[in-house]
Formats: sequence, structure tokens, C-alpha cells
Amino acid sequence: MAIDETVHQHKYLLEESEMPTAWYNIVPDLPEPPPPALHPGTLQPAGPEDFAPLFPMELILQEVSQERYIEIPGGVLDVYRQWRPSPLFRAHRLEKALGTPARIYYKYEGVSPAGSHKPNTAVPQAYYNKQAGVKKLTTETGAGQWGTALAFACALFGLECEVWQVGASFDQKPYRRMMIETFGATIHPSPSNLTEAGRRILAEHPDSTGSLGIAISEAVEVAAQNADTNYALGSVLNHVLLHQTIIGEEALLQLAKVGETPDLIVGCTGGGSNFAGLSFPFLREKLAGRMSPVIRAVEPASCPSLTKGVYAYDFGDTAGMTPLMKMHTLGHDFIPDPIHAGGLRYHGMSPLISHLYETGLIEAIAKPQRECFAAGVQFARTEGIVPAPEPTHALAAAIEEALRCKESGESKVILTALCGHGHLDMAAYDAYLSGAMQDHELDQAAVAAAVAALPPVPVG
Ligand SMILES: Cc1ncc(COP(=O)(O)O)c(C=O)c1O
Repeated sequence: MAIDETVHQHKYLLEESEMPTAWYNIVPDLPEPPPPALHPGTLQPAGPEDFAPLFPMELILQEVSQERYIEIPGGVLDVYRQWRPSPLFRAHRLEKALGTPARIYYKYEGVSPAGSHKPNTAVPQAYYNKQAGVKKLTTETGAGQWGTALAFACALFGLECEVWQVGASFDQKPYRRMMIETFGATIHPSPSNLTEAGRRILAEHPDSTGSLGIAISEAVEVAAQNADTNYALGSVLNHVLLHQTIIGEEALLQLAKVGETPDLIVGCTGGGSNFAGLSFPFLREKLAGRMSPVIRAVEPASCPSLTKGVYAYDFGDTAGMTPLMKMHTLGHDFIPDPIHAGGLRYHGMSPLISHLYETGLIEAIAKPQRECFAAGVQFARTEGIVPAPEPTHALAAAIEEALRCKESGESKVILTALCGHGHLDMAAYDAYLSGAMQDHELDQAAVAAAVAALPPVPVG
């Protein structure tokens, strides 16, 4: 290949002083309100008191807020400034390799201390808990990005942190455990025999590889039993998505500097937080008629909650301890195959994202993992960043669209979230490169079996 001597602008940066100072809450702008969470006993809308054993009041108020903007506290802004504003890159070399007239932009969140977008919410969650006098936070983690982020945030604010990591990922990604311990947190593989929920699963399935739903049950159980301990969730809930909107608010400013508006926004979805974080500010602009991007979620074919799951009330965890949330779900008992994108192995989808999908404001597709890793490798060999396995799903969809543009001659603007690097996920790349990686597609019979365990709540 001949060396290209063209000098391009590759990255679009904002000054620290240009960083947005409010999070964006999409709820008041939606044409229809999202269905409320329900108390599992009364089936009535859950009130703040139902969340109070687990979360501080500031976060509960954000969870149900009707305010369009919520100011980011100074103590959070100060920590954000360590790595924010994050860069927006134009993928010139990937575009060239694809031979596409499309223009591909990626917002890179791997510059954070944990290596992903997760500190955007870990920091405010630790901040509000510290303010409320809480001593310790418990949580689940899949790939380990969220556990690392919360361990980092707890270290900054002087909180203890205890993490249950999905067993399959605990074995696949030992360096995440070490990083979490380096930040001072305690970590256990899940299911563990430290909790009632874990012991129950182990009694039935001694070889269980775990799931995010089980790990959530374990972390929630410990938080609910200890007055000085709260629980922190890394995705799914409204307040988590809210905190991530700093990504999209920055990307809007950065694209405006280039004079571009996106035709397509693609993001990977586990529980929906990086996807929401990037896309919600753009959806606000779309709802206001100022731009009209297609917004597409990409999930793994082995855990396709949006594209194959049902839209119904279900528990957020496996043991059934959380309020019921109306969401796209494969059933809270569902254990996905131990694919390498551990952060996308969640049985449900954020209620807000599910509502947007139901009301036609976003699209969704599912991708098998080998296509995603092929995209990740192509991205690494052109752009030089090894993506985390999760955003390879978004990259596969971005590349698919860019190749469509090559066919049609359209020069669409494609925007995606490169929500983390894969430096601690190299075993997954090794499995792909050695040919050992398999695809797992969930067929309709498996979906039917999975959703059979849904709680008896009207689906309507
Ligand atoms: C790098 C990365 N991307 C994406 C996800 C999926 O979560 P979400 O859909 O909330 O962004 C995770 C979850 O652990 C992750 O670590």
C-alpha cells in the first residue's frame, strides 16, 4: 500500500472550559411518557421509598425527574475534567480502507481512568452517596469496566466498594480484577456463596457461569441488609443514562465545530447507557426538528433483548428483588452464552431505551460476535485503537452502513461511540484471531423458553 501524504484533521477537541455543565433528561421531551416502575407486591407505581434502601435521595429524584436539564455538581465537574471533554475522531484511515464516501466519526471514551464511559456515572453516583453519608457501595460488573469505574470513583470519595463480577468474565479477564483491587475495592466471582441469592443459584447450577442479573441480586442483597451500604448500578436506570448524556452534549459541540450533522448514530447496547449518552442529545435536536439522524442500537445476537425479547414488566435482577420495570427482556432467569462482550450480557434493556424503541424513535439490530471482532480488528489496524468487545458491535454496524454508502455513492455522516478500549480484553481478541471464537445466535424456541419465567404482570 502506498503511503498517503495527505494531512487531515483527525480529532476535534474542546477546552475544559467548553465542557457542558448540565446533564440532559430526555423524559420531558418525549411525545409519550415512559411507563413507571412498579412495586412487585402492590403492582402500583414504585415511589421514592421503594428505592430508598438502595439509592441516595438525589439519585432517586433524578430517576423520576421531569426537569430537562440537571446541573452537574462542582465536585463531579472537577473529576470529569481529568479526562473530559473526550476527543471526537474522524476515522479517515478506516474510511480509506473501506473505500467509502461516508464520513465516520467516533467519540472516544477510552481516555477515562477506567478505560470506558462508565466513570461518567460512577463519579456522580459515588459523589451523591458520599454526600448522603453512605460508607460503602456494592455493585455487579460484567466485563469489569463498570466495577473498575466504581472502584475508581469510590477511591476518590473515600467509600468502600464491593463488586460481584459475572463468573465467566472473572475467569476471562483477570486484569480487571487486579485493577479493581488496585483501586481498593473487594471483588468476588458471581454466583458466590456469600449471599442467599448466590447460594440458591449454586445449589441448582454448581457450574453456573453467572449473569449480570445474578450479580445484581447479590450486590442488592448485601446493600439492602446493611444500613450504611448502598447499591450502584452501571446501566439501565434513568439516572445512569442521564449522567452519560455528557457524551452526546460534547459530541454535538464538536460536530458543530466541523459543520457536520449526523445521518446515522450507532451505538452498542448492553443496558443502554453509552448508546443513550451519545444519542439522547441528538434525539432532542431531532424532536425539535433541527436534524434528522437515524438512531440505531446494536446488540449481540446471543442476547437480543430489543430485537427478540418481549416488551413486558420484569425484574432487573435474577432473584426478583428490584422493582418491576417495563422493558424489552429475555426474562430475568435468562443466562446468555458466555460471549466475550461481557458488558452486553444483560437479560433486559433500559426502560427508557425500550420505550423509545416501542415508539419508533430508535431502530435496533443484532450482530454475531465474529463479525464484531472482525470490525474491531479492522478498526485497530486502521485507527490504531483496540476497541473493547462491546463497541465492536457498533463498529460492525458503522462499517456495514459505510459499505452500503460505497454501493450507493452516498456520503453519509456516521457517528458512533467508541465507548471503551480493549486493552484488558486481549484474551477475547486471541480467541477471535486463533479461530476458536464461536457465534451463538438465540433462536425463537430459546427466546420462548427464556421469557416463560416472566412475572405475572399484564403485558399491555
Ligand atoms: C465498554 C463497554 N461498553 C458497553 C457496555 C454496555 O453497557 P451500556 O449499554 O450500559 O453502555 C459496557 C458494560 O459493561 C462496557 O463495559
